[in-house]
Amino acid sequence: METIVEINNLSKDYETGFWRKKKTRALDDLTLTVKSGQIFGFLGGNGAGKTTTIKILMSLLFPSSGTAKILGRDISDSNMHSSIGYCPENPYFYDYLTASELMNYFGELFGIEAAKRKERAAELLTKVGLAEKDWNKQLRKFSKGMLQRVGLAQSLINDPQIVFLDEPMSGLDPMGRREIRELIAGLREKGTTVFMSTHILSDVEALCDEVAILRNGKLAATGNLEDLLASGGENQSFEVNVKGVLPDAFNSIAGTRITAKGSGVSLEVLSEADVEKVLQITGNAGGRLISVQSIKQSLEELFVEKTSDRD
Ligand SMILES: Nc1ncnc2c1ncn2[C@@H]1O[C@H](COP(=O)(O)OP(=O)(O)OP(=O)(O)O)[C@@H](O)[C@H]1O
Ligand SMILES: [Mg+2]
Repeated sequence: METIVEINNLSKDYETGFWRKKKTRALDDLTLTVKSGQIFGFLGGNGAGKTTTIKILMSLLFPSSGTAKILGRDISDSNMHSSIGYCPENPYFYDYLTASELMNYFGELFGIEAAKRKERAAELLTKVGLAEKDWNKQLRKFSKGMLQRVGLAQSLINDPQIVFLDEPMSGLDPMGRREIRELIAGLREKGTTVFMSTHILSDVEALCDEVAILRNGKLAATGNLEDLLASGGENQSFEVNVKGVLPDAFNSIAGTRITAKGSGVSLEVLSEADVEKVLQITGNAGGRLISVQSIKQSLEELFVEKTSDRD
């Protein structure tokens, strides 16, 4: 898989205070690559630097130092921007345009001819689940979720190779979230790379191939989601359920959580070697094994671990 986004040592200081003399470091030496054809989840708590990163990639903000490339071209190369899509956090558009007019406007910016623009606008507004009766309504009469949908439709008007979505699920009701989740999965199907920031971890688990977690502007973790969640090697813990043995028989296995469960025993052990010990004790006592299951770290646990200020 080829690299589609390459971020090298990116930092951003916002100048704040009355004389703009104080500096707030929003991004701190961020280096990150995103491979094409996947859904990449960009995670981090409030103020971690997600929007700042995306705005720098979109050339809406200048970095204080560092570089970034999209599709092999430097982010300052304006030609590259015709091949990418962007849906901002809390999309805000000119209020007096209707959804159709807005789509037409963006289509025109990308040089799409009139008939094609109209066709594509209808296709996309349908895809994001905006009812046809609302297409000719002014955006100032739209709810937050409806604006979010128009923002998404707009970001896809030029059939981009990669689309950057900053909190695409915010403001959506459960039905809307499901529709947009399907839309995003559909983008990957047809080969569009998706770079999305979100706080909704269930969406990340359902959609993302790889993730990066930001903390205070720094990269706290990145990689394949499954690899990050499998707590790996010796630290892998297991739940073992057995029958026909008394709970006390397992007291010799250090660190094991033992729970009597109905007529059996449920054990949480800390290693594969301990699973072996459980099997041996159970066998010797004439009991039997019911199940062994590996306990994966949840994304929520990983997120809390990587973004909390403890350590
Ligand atoms: N225009 C600005 N001027 C000064 N500081 C800013 C500005 N925009 C953002 N910041 C600061 O930069 C840091 C990163 O903000 P950013 O908006 O990138 O975070 P985020 O990860 O997108 O957060 P959220 O999840 O809340 O959207 C924060 O400390 C924020 O206060
Ligand atoms: Mg943000």
